[in-house]
Amino acid sequence: MRNGEDFRAHVHWCWWWPLRDARGDSRLITPLRGFDFSVVQSLAVHPKGLDFPRSKEVGCQASRQESQAEILGFFQLLLLAGSETTSNLLSNAIISLCENAGAFASLRQSPQTLIPSTIEEVLRYRSPVQWMFRLSREAVELSGQTIPARAVVLAMIGSANRDPRQFANPEQFDLSRDPNPHIAFGHGAHFCLGSALARLEGRTAMEEFLRSTDRVELASELPWTPNPGLHVHGPTSLPIRFTHEI
Ligand code: HEM
Repeated sequence: MRNGEDFRAHVHWCWWWPLRDARGDSRLITPLRGFDFSVVQSLAVHPKGLDFPRSKEVGCQASRQESQAEILGFFQLLLLAGSETTSNLLSNAIISLCENAGAFASLRQSPQTLIPSTIEEVLRYRSPVQWMFRLSREAVELSGQTIPARAVVLAMIGSANRDPRQFANPEQFDLSRDPNPHIAFGHGAHFCLGSALARLEGRTAMEEFLRSTDRVELASELPWTPNPGLHVHGPTSLPIRFTHEI
């Protein structure tokens, strides 16, 4: 990869791979080939502040070819999971605020109180990750339905986050929602590793946005086009018009 554009194109390609049969497709990790493993290997001797419980062990294993594939796979996961998700969180926040002028006015009045709940409500209302899939190991009974063994199950996060049994007025974008038990970061063993970072990025971007924006609206009358595949929810592009009175 040569630049940010290449990176973005690659990330897009990878996010849509569940729509294709990408097993064994070398494009998944090709851009990371040529990665300098000496950086990881040096963890065996100097953890360099990366003092995770297993950093020494990872450093020791980084010379083995099988471990290198695993390490690249993990870096790939981090790059994908950490970039497209948060950028869509921000776009989705702007869309939600453009569509709800009252919410934007309240947020401008009490940013310190409302920024955290705005991020949580965007995560619920326009969940950046709409679904995840699982493979059932054995037959399971769930809400009166039998899921057979080895079935692919789509867990619809976006739908769960608008479940009227969990949320009052689920179709309403409500900055004062409390509690807000959304599952935008998943649930259980695979709960998002980067949730704290994503919330921090969201908060920082929102603070900066409010500092530099008094009014904001969508710049086009045409409806925005969603990302293909409906996996990562957000717009393909979002022209906006904003003003700032100095
Ligand atoms: C708004 C931003 C984000 C959203 C909505 C989000 C959402 C999710 C979801 C739903 C899962 C669960 C996947 C599953 O159950 O299979 C997940 C897992 C994960 N996320 Fe995030 N994520 C976000 C940001 C990040 C960031 C910033 C990073 C790291 C830099 C990250 C790293 C990961 C990793 C490594 C996993 C896999 C955890 C595991 O399988 O144990 N995510 N994320």
